[in-house]
Amino acid sequence: MLLATTQVWLGTLPYASRNSDVQMGVIASAPAKVILFGEHFVVYGEPAIVLAIDKRASAKAELRDDRRLHLHSVNLNISGYFEDENFKIEQGDPREGKLKFEPLKLAVEKVLEIYGSSVGLDIEVNSAVPVAAGLGSSAAVAAAVTASVGALLNMNISKEDIFRISYETEKIVHGTPSGVDPAISTFGGILLFQKDTGFKSLDVEADVPLVIGYTGVERSTRVQVAKVRNMKEKYPRIIEQMMKTAREIVLEAIDAFKKGDLETLGALMNINHALLYGLGVSAESLEWLINTARKTGALGAKLTGAGGGGCMVALVEDERLRQVFEAIQRSGGSPFIARKTDEGVKIERV
Ligand code: MEV
Repeated sequence: MLLATTQVWLGTLPYASRNSDVQMGVIASAPAKVILFGEHFVVYGEPAIVLAIDKRASAKAELRDDRRLHLHSVNLNISGYFEDENFKIEQGDPREGKLKFEPLKLAVEKVLEIYGSSVGLDIEVNSAVPVAAGLGSSAAVAAAVTASVGALLNMNISKEDIFRISYETEKIVHGTPSGVDPAISTFGGILLFQKDTGFKSLDVEADVPLVIGYTGVERSTRVQVAKVRNMKEKYPRIIEQMMKTAREIVLEAIDAFKKGDLETLGALMNINHALLYGLGVSAESLEWLINTARKTGALGAKLTGAGGGGCMVALVEDERLRQVFEAIQRSGGSPFIARKTDEGVKIERV
């Protein structure tokens, strides 16, 4: 396994055509993610290692004749539109519709701010990423929507802009996000992310074979982050030591990636999970799947993302992938085998 740290590329997205003023309809997509090390601690400035996975959210943007922003989520079965700041639901629960679409409205507004003029849009979202599961579905959707609208209007929107705009939308969704989710959905690959000092791409050449197990329990990142804040206020000195340990884990993990030492990476994932358990963000549904994965031969397993439900991730040697996958399934989880993708946000079709 080869690892080199490089600065993240901040180029503009390639477009099929830059000649016409606007395109007819554009599809963009962005990947989901798993945090391998450092979730929650990253909110307080500690480093995290995050990997983009081969599950994507996509958004199709088309121009409308009127000034409405019409949104449709295929997998959530919700549609509605914003007109003059009013939201009108057409399909699905009005509360859920507003909750899901408000951040996307902000993303569109931010793109139109750069564009310098207002237009009506039809946006259709289609996502293979389970929602509220710790896989960064909201950030992936926001990045895909931002990119599709930018490309539709033939703007040279940069990845930096897409990251910035998706980060703004994440503040509506989660309150105080670190920015790790929009960063990985925008840039892809494996990132060493730190809130205040920026992020670097870790060029890991070898496969990092992962089984992700969804507990089926939806949870709110905002609530989980608030839990940690309470713990931090209640036990500041203890949590400070845990923060330091989390930092050490990430530093050791960078070294293990360099050496291709999957065994150490697995052990570090287990230690990382113990810290998250201590913070109170695990759940019975997660413990069950994590223990199952460990017992069936995973090198290491932990919750990923905010916890409280959502997903766990196990690092598994290739020859045991099937075994761990089936054991998680038997334990009531919904597993899938995930591979790293280097492709961040991209235009699929113009
Ligand atoms: C959410 O995917 C990860 C958290 O660390 C929150 C954040 O970084 O914004 C729990």
